[in-house]
Amino acid sequence: LIPLLIDTDPGVDDALALLMAFNDPRHRVVGLAIAAGNVGLRHTVANALKLCEVAGVDVPVFAGCASPLVHEAEDAAHVHGQDGFGDIGYAPAATQAQAEHAALAILRLSHEHAGRLLLVALGPLTNIALALRLDPTLPQRVARLVLMGGAVTAHGNITPAAEFNIAFDPEAAHVVFSAFPHIDLADWEATVAHGLLHEEVVDWLRADSPRARFYEAISRRTREWSADRRGAYWHSADALAMAFALQPDGAVECVDRPVVVELEGRHTRGATVVDWNRQTGRTDNARVLLRYDPARFHGLIRNALAAG
Ligand code: BDR
Ligand code: CA
Repeated sequence: LIPLLIDTDPGVDDALALLMAFNDPRHRVVGLAIAAGNVGLRHTVANALKLCEVAGVDVPVFAGCASPLVHEAEDAAHVHGQDGFGDIGYAPAATQAQAEHAALAILRLSHEHAGRLLLVALGPLTNIALALRLDPTLPQRVARLVLMGGAVTAHGNITPAAEFNIAFDPEAAHVVFSAFPHIDLADWEATVAHGLLHEEVVDWLRADSPRARFYEAISRRTREWSADRRGAYWHSADALAMAFALQPDGAVECVDRPVVVELEGRHTRGATVVDWNRQTGRTDNARVLLRYDPARFHGLIRNALAAG
């Protein structure tokens, strides 16, 4: 089994991605490194623990950074609920996070699974950046990094130019994009191109399983919010990134390009700047996902909800 380490800020779409990972027969989730992002760290950790409990999986949860590396940032509670899980008032999990910091757990697990580790980043990149500053050799031991973040033609979701995960901690994103020689990137624009029909999602959520029931409840608010603003399709960013991670051959079209993170722009801080025309002479460091097989994507979600 491929060891899979997920850095995440759950978060409603993170939760769906985690259920997909738990359900995958070819991967074993070796840890959840938790960041602040969608909501504060206290909630993202509690949500991760609760999701593991509901799913009945025994996966260590490591609490990481409670704030971005340099600047404070606003969360996304308006999308995910004040607690990040739709404010349904669930009973907290009986389990607790590990004592080890997420950045240290990332490094330790990278040694334990050197050359085989699949690292999937679904939130702001603070923990991974910190791990890189502690040990710059980390990329040498990671077999593949799949990252949800960015807006490759500057159609951002949190500012006109920037996507939330990058905009929340641009300095951390800069550290990660500078250090990893190859990033499989599922950006916000790919998310929008792979919208899920609300009606279909509702149908999948009718599955008779604790996972589907819990997910139906925690996602209800954000699905309503999205239906009001964005119409017939629901955009589940982290789920698409996880599909790309679990079944890379489901990617129908990708393009390799150099990508850097804007740290200073007055209107563009946190933008992922892609050298589409290869004007900079920089080496390609990202494979940008453009098209993923919808049947595969939908199948992974449907099965993840029905399982357990
Ligand atoms: C990303 O930001 C978060 O709100 C989601 O969980 C996803 O990781 C989308 O921009
Ligand atoms: Ca996320």
